[in-house]
Amino acid sequence: MKQLETNRLILRMFTENDGEDVAAMCNNVKIYQHTLHIPYPYTKQDALTWIGFHEENRENERMYDLAVTDKLSGELFGSVGLSIHKTFNHGELGYWIGEAHWGKGFATEAAEAMIQFAFDEKRLHKVYTRCFDSNPASGKVLAKLGMKREGVLREHVRKDGKYLDLLHYGLLASEG
Ligand SMILES: CC(C)(COP(=O)(O)OP(=O)(O)OC[C@H]1O[C@@H](n2cnc3c(N)ncnc32)[C@H](O)[C@@H]1OP(=O)(O)O)[C@@H](O)C(=O)NCCC(=O)NCCS
Repeated sequence: MKQLETNRLILRMFTENDGEDVAAMCNNVKIYQHTLHIPYPYTKQDALTWIGFHEENRENERMYDLAVTDKLSGELFGSVGLSIHKTFNHGELGYWIGEAHWGKGFATEAAEAMIQFAFDEKRLHKVYTRCFDSNPASGKVLAKLGMKREGVLREHVRKDGKYLDLLHYGLLASEG
């Protein structure tokens, strides 16, 4: 798999040329606050280092990080990722969209395509997501995707010196 297509979007592999745009979008405290692994401040070098792992991860079928882009103009809107755990035959979904493009349904449309890829192509049994309670926009995306809230992982991660709860959402292939 090199790319996926939806009504409005092409989901493709990132290239080094995306480094500047990724840095511009991710250097945003509102993205940092709601994600587990994105640093802040975020530099172009952070973006290039991240993009540098993608091809090997894809070849090893370990992780698919795709650029969410406009089908017509090619503009970069954000990212959707699927991290696969072969032993358990499940995968974790993640996404971010640049703030200028929020509220247009791009995260939902991109995540839908990634979930379809997970079930139809990778034959995974389950896709799950972990999300901070303080992130109603992502909660809405997950509801639109039909993901079920399965429980709360209490004080599961430390962020900025505080232990925070994570909400656990899941979707089985039989429900997808
Ligand atoms: C979460 C995020 C990916 C959503 O991207 P998006 O492209 O705007 O998502 P969509 O447009 O598909 O859907 C967002 C929904 O949340 C709703 N929403 C936005 N802010 C909200 C809020 N504060 N409270 C309740 N709902 C909210 C929108 O109205 C929309 O619902 P609608 O389609 O019924 O109107 C984006 O806000 C983001 O990148 N946030 C920072 C990173 C992040 O949180 N990643 C996910 C980690 S689990």
